Amino acid sequence: MSLIEQINSEKLPKHIAIIMDGNGRWAKQKGMLRAFGHENGAKSVRTTVETCARLGVGHLTLYAFSTENWNRPKLEVEMLMKLLINSLKNEVKTLSKNNIRLNAIGNLDRLPKSAKKELLEVIEATKNNDRMVLTLALSYGSQEEIISAVKAIAVKVKNNIISTDAIDESIINQHLYTQNLPNVDLLIRTSGEQRISNFLLWQIAYAELYFTPVLWPDFNDEDLYAAIVSYQNRERRFGKTSDQIK
Ligand code: IPE
Ligand code: IPE
Ligand code: MG
Repeated sequence: MSLIEQINSEKLPKHIAIIMDGNGRWAKQKGMLRAFGHENGAKSVRTTVETCARLGVGHLTLYAFSTENWNRPKLEVEMLMKLLINSLKNEVKTLSKNNIRLNAIGNLDRLPKSAKKELLEVIEATKNNDRMVLTLALSYGSQEEIISAVKAIAVKVKNNIISTDAIDESIINQHLYTQNLPNVDLLIRTSGEQRISNFLLWQIAYAELYFTPVLWPDFNDEDLYAAIVSYQNRERRFGKTSDQIK
């Protein structure tokens, strides 16, 4: 049976998050500059987005640029920001055609003005689409997100808007960038690295983790299907016993 035939469409992960890693190594293997890897990575973004929407996945969140990525060489950062602007310009039609709503999480004020403007325009242009929510994590760091949530909650406690006792999981969720997103069911990381790199630390509390050696520019539909099949073959127990689940 082919991989796609093995996918049970009733048990799809509601929210898939991907750490898209390995663009630089992919380019290096080909004797090319890192920029070439990023450009080809953008192609994998397009196919992955379209395939997730076609399968019926409700939420796809892509780690595109981390707070730590600001520390890369200036030229690479500039190149990535230009690529972001061009991709947004080129993809807005595809998003609308596929009825996909764009969303973004991260410290967007750190983005160059032109990139932030383009991003907000595409978010606005796609706001009524309801087949899938595509969230781009840009200038995103989970620790920074948690710090800003803690600060916002502390201010509310200080001003007697909420009491300390009222702070629970739901209050914390409401103060994260991901406030409107369901928790992650499946987290995929490409390129063979097995780490989280400051991505969605709170939101992956019970996600299934899937690591593949495939470098992001090579990641294709079959690789996505393989991740989903692996996910569907696991027993998610959420702390209970196997008997309780069955
Ligand atoms: C992922 O690929 C893209 C970003 C982090 C922006 P990398 O650029 O990290 O590629 P490697 O890990 O160096 O191969
Ligand atoms: C994580 O990849 C960030 C993105 C994919 C955007 P990195 O390549 O920056 O992660 P580390 O530094 O190897 O952990
Ligand atoms: Mg990397």
